[in-house]
Amino acid sequence: MTTDTTGTAARDGEPRRGGPADSPFVRACRREPGPHTPVWFMRQAGRSLPEYREIRANVPMLESCRRPELVTEITLQPVRRHGVDAAILFSDIVVPVAAAGIDLDIVPGTGPVVAEPVRTAADVERINPIGRDDVSYVDEAVRLLVAELGDTPLIGFAGAPFTLASYLVEGGPSRTHAKTKALMYGDPELWHALCARLAQVTLAFLRVQVDAGVSAVQLFDSWAGALSEADYRRYVLPHSAHVLAGLAGAGVPRIHFGVGTAELLGAMGEAGADVVGVDWRTPLDVATRRIGPDKAVQGNLDPAVLLAPWEVVESQVRRIVDQGRAAPGHVFNLGHGVLPETDPEVLTRVVALVHELSARPAA
Ligand code: CP3
Repeated sequence: MTTDTTGTAARDGEPRRGGPADSPFVRACRREPGPHTPVWFMRQAGRSLPEYREIRANVPMLESCRRPELVTEITLQPVRRHGVDAAILFSDIVVPVAAAGIDLDIVPGTGPVVAEPVRTAADVERINPIGRDDVSYVDEAVRLLVAELGDTPLIGFAGAPFTLASYLVEGGPSRTHAKTKALMYGDPELWHALCARLAQVTLAFLRVQVDAGVSAVQLFDSWAGALSEADYRRYVLPHSAHVLAGLAGAGVPRIHFGVGTAELLGAMGEAGADVVGVDWRTPLDVATRRIGPDKAVQGNLDPAVLLAPWEVVESQVRRIVDQGRAAPGHVFNLGHGVLPETDPEVLTRVVALVHELSARPAA
């Protein structure tokens, strides 16, 4: 098929063109020149915004992810307020896992908590395949958002198999991922079966979002940095690669992100990303050397810097915009999510500063 008048459809394997597909954000992901360095913030929709806290006041997190009108409003809040170059769908990495039949909740101040942790072959069987009908609220929210956002791209996302497996095996957040690693090293066959199941769910969840019109996807492997490169390559990469390869023909850039991944940046790129997310520990010019010239980078301001005086924020933003010039494409972001105590006005100033510092005259 060919590009339609809205410019959102494309032939298999060909990039979409027009509208959000020609936005500064998508162009930077594709390593094409644009008018300025695009900027968005992980967790931009969330507790740093008073309008978010207000609208979420009496709605539990998982329920709010299942209400398309509410998802639309929360997703749009940071776009209106900060003028970021992309919206990210308001949802959570555990939403598709819950849709796949796992009993879990998102506990305020803690994170995902799983009623019966997944530790046996029978437990793995409890993770059902999902399709559009199992997450119809996500399909609907994306369609509403694409209509509202106009030329501003919407980023879809999902959790990568390792990070999802960690929540499922531990039963909740973990600092050491000890039970997860015990399973991974102790029963590799079961580990691979679990990750293959999760890769299936993740890919299906991302396909629903792509079919509904997102302009890019981000695969969050937030906790992959807990592994050595050798173990990452052996136990994790094949499963994340399955997800990313499954979207190779979707015509949207694929961003792959984790925290503490300095040693994994090359491997995470090899897993099939178009853009590699970098946390604040690795300067972007160094990260680019590790990732190679055929991928863009995203990052990498330490979210805690936003709590410092403006002069500090400004000098760090300048440094990152400069170091980002070494990359073939740079999407400005934080090295991890916005902290709840962040002053939203500082985020707005950062967007304006990045745009000002990176403005390029029209060709
Ligand atoms: O703006 C955005 O980035 C989109 C929204 C988003 C949320 N979760 C909303 C959310 C995204 C992209 C996520 C992904 C996510 N969820 C990840 C990967 C990104 C990362 O931070 O590394 C992970 C590991 C999770 C699991 C999870 N869900 C955690 C660790 C928490 C925080 C627990 C807490 O309360 O501190 C959640 C809950 C969650 N997800 C909140 C939000 C806005 C807070 C819940 C609330 O507002 O009550």
